[in-house]
Amino acid sequence: VDSTTQVVYQLHTAAQRLYQHILLNTTSGEQALAYLHDKRQLTDDIIKHFGIGFVPEDNALLNYATEQNISREMMRTSELFISNDQGELRDRFSGRIVWPIKTERGQVVGFSGRALNANNSIKYMNSPESPFFTKGKILYNFDLSKNQIRQTNTVMIFEGFMDVISASMAEKPVGVATMGTALTRDHVRQLSHVAKRILLVYDGDEAGQNAARRSIDLIREYAKNVDIGVVYLPDHLDPDEVRVQRGLSVLKQTLEQNIQTPVEFLVNAARVGKNLSNQVQYLAFLQEVMKTLKSASPVEQDIQLTRIANEFGTSKHALQTQLQQSVTQKA
Ligand code: UTP
Ligand code: MN
Ligand code: MN
Ligand code: MN
Ligand code: MN
Repeated sequence: VDSTTQVVYQLHTAAQRLYQHILLNTTSGEQALAYLHDKRQLTDDIIKHFGIGFVPEDNALLNYATEQNISREMMRTSELFISNDQGELRDRFSGRIVWPIKTERGQVVGFSGRALNANNSIKYMNSPESPFFTKGKILYNFDLSKNQIRQTNTVMIFEGFMDVISASMAEKPVGVATMGTALTRDHVRQLSHVAKRILLVYDGDEAGQNAARRSIDLIREYAKNVDIGVVYLPDHLDPDEVRVQRGLSVLKQTLEQNIQTPVEFLVNAARVGKNLSNQVQYLAFLQEVMKTLKSASPVEQDIQLTRIANEFGTSKHALQTQLQQSVTQKA
């Protein structure tokens, strides 16, 4: 690494320490700490383990960097500051709780900041793309989870940092998350080097379900030998909400037991938003099911067709014939 990179890295490491110190030990961190304790149910040990911090409004990092004689140019390069209309710098994440984003080797290269009061501003803000911080390559928590992923051969992919942290609290320290973007080929390649099994644990809402579909396609394409599971979350909750609202043991149980095969997940997803007692919509549902089942194993085909036959009273023979027809149809 060149000397600019070195300074940028050092400044990120210093920022993480400073922001954590402010959160845990100073009065300007009190409100944020109370929020993490009371609303998010985090202990100080968890806050320390994940390096969470708080950025006050008083430009603590700017003052530190200035004392360290770090040049304005270097400060701009680091992306840890933003400038106002007058060109004055201030701490980028002012007023936000920050989670450090680290490389696979544990070097802090960016932050994600959550507004303390999410009603007043954009809830999440990340460090911008830069030569030091590439969202398509970085996986949150990969540094801390890698050994455990190797040992268990399993990785869980979540939408958010708090979901990764919640899983870790529920004795599943094998979670990673993408940086507010979709899973990339590069992410999949990195994970396939250490895991034989990928569990997708996306939010139980529509956005989460769509993300799961895209990730299944991507993993099937770029990690052919990796086994995929999709964890179903109850009542449109995300994993963190399951922990806070229902308790750690419910989250643990959910992560262990609510696992679906991709085929099962995709067939269930095909129902969403359709009124299946309407014939037009039922046929559209079947068409989507057949598309999924075309490439499925004979056993999974049989399981799903049996289910549909029983539930809707369509003969299994007819369903099988339709599946055969869609198999022979050109893609
Ligand atoms: P969500 O929109 O599901 O966050 O975004 P959330 O669960 O409501 O957030 P909390 O629980 O109130 O804090 C999913 C995740 O995507 C990341 C965040 O990690 C978030 O938890 N994200 C979202 C970003 O990194 N950047 C964004 O701009 C938005
Ligand atoms: Mn407290
Ligand atoms: Mn979501
Ligand atoms: Mn969420
Ligand atoms: Mn959440």
